[in-house]
Amino acid sequence: MHNFALLTIFSVALSTFYVDATVYFKEQFLDGDEWKSRWVNSEHKSDYGQFKLTSGNFYGDVEKDKGLQTSQDARFYAASARFESFSNKGKTLVIQFSVKHEQKIDCGGGYVKVFPADLNQAELHGESQYYIMFGPDICGYSTKKVHVIFNYKGKNHLIKKDIKCKDDELTHLYTLILKPNQTYEVKIDNEKVESGSLEEDWDFLPPKKIKDPEAKKPEDWDDRAKIDDETDTKPEDWDKPENIPDPDAKKPEDWDEDMDGEWEPAMIPNPEYKGEWKPKQIDNPSYKGVWVHPEIDNPEYSPDTEIYKFDSIGVLGLDLWQVKSGTIFDNFFITDDVKAAEEFAEETWGVTKGPEKKMKEEQDEKKRKEEEEKNKEQDTAAESEGEEEEEEEEEEEEEEETDETLPEEDENEALPKDEL
Ligand SMILES: *[C@@H]1O[C@H](CO)[C@@H](O)[C@H](O)[C@H]1NC(C)=O
Repeated sequence: MHNFALLTIFSVALSTFYVDATVYFKEQFLDGDEWKSRWVNSEHKSDYGQFKLTSGNFYGDVEKDKGLQTSQDARFYAASARFESFSNKGKTLVIQFSVKHEQKIDCGGGYVKVFPADLNQAELHGESQYYIMFGPDICGYSTKKVHVIFNYKGKNHLIKKDIKCKDDELTHLYTLILKPNQTYEVKIDNEKVESGSLEEDWDFLPPKKIKDPEAKKPEDWDDRAKIDDETDTKPEDWDKPENIPDPDAKKPEDWDEDMDGEWEPAMIPNPEYKGEWKPKQIDNPSYKGVWVHPEIDNPEYSPDTEIYKFDSIGVLGLDLWQVKSGTIFDNFFITDDVKAAEEFAEETWGVTKGPEKKMKEEQDEKKRKEEEEKNKEQDTAAESEGEEEEEEEEEEEEEEETDETLPEEDENEALPKDEL
């Protein structure tokens, strides 16, 4: 119940700017270990990965940038937080959060799921029915997209458009806006990357129109735009053989007809050969154009002006799989007010993104210089020492490198090689 109290305090604070804004859920992880009382780890499986609170290896503000980080490789994660349930009927719904894949993610989810209030959080798992799934998903080079999935009448519907997600190591902000007039908008870093209508960009409803099953192309429908010119005739001298004996060929002097048989010149393509004769093409006077199959209203279609509506939104969850862990989730924000979400974004991510980038660049630069130094040392060593010794030294150096670029011991070994 602690979280509901916090919520109220925040709504009051925000209302100085946006009188009408309702904030349903806000989580910034600014109160130390208290988040553990608000977030429930699923016990559906015994080996879910653990989330830990950290601002990571680089940040804009070591306290403000603290968020939930996936801390174990090749694990499923399933944790969720509850808030006072609400319906978005007749209202805008905004779902926003930030994601930082500081581990150079290879494959893993970075999305949130928004659940009905009746979700059993302790039993949350991959098949738990959700209302909305939204956010980035990366796997290899081919999958780098933003999911926008809505559950409609018990079935999950994926957006038909392809929205690219960010794949660098910095913190990015993802925002989904769902409006009661059945339109939506997706923003990354507070800028619109996609928008449209629910009916057009998902397959919630059967198509409005279908091809008339009764209609058939009339048998006498002439859809030939061009026809042979009947008055055209083949010229008398058209037909020529395709190949002719080479006029320049000569019987070799030592040709022996008894032994070699009758001499025949080699055949060559006939330069006068014109190919098969075809009559000229003229416009077809009875051409009727391409036959278009007439459409009728689909009897299966009935409009639904409440596709966007969810009756009892009550839980936000992180239910995902990660191969290489290290993703940090922060600044969750669910509201009915686009401006309030923008403002919250600017006060949080907007303030720390610059310093975070600077810190990251400084770290990269330091690493680059150290690599350079190491390579120089190696070159000098190679020149002055024998081959066996050199090999030993290289091995030693590789070990050193692993130690210093990887803070966690069980991290992926491929990382330092990528960076060379
Ligand atoms: C939907 O509502 C928004 C305002 O919330 C408006 O800007 C937009 O034009 C509307 N779209 C349609 C298709 O009615």
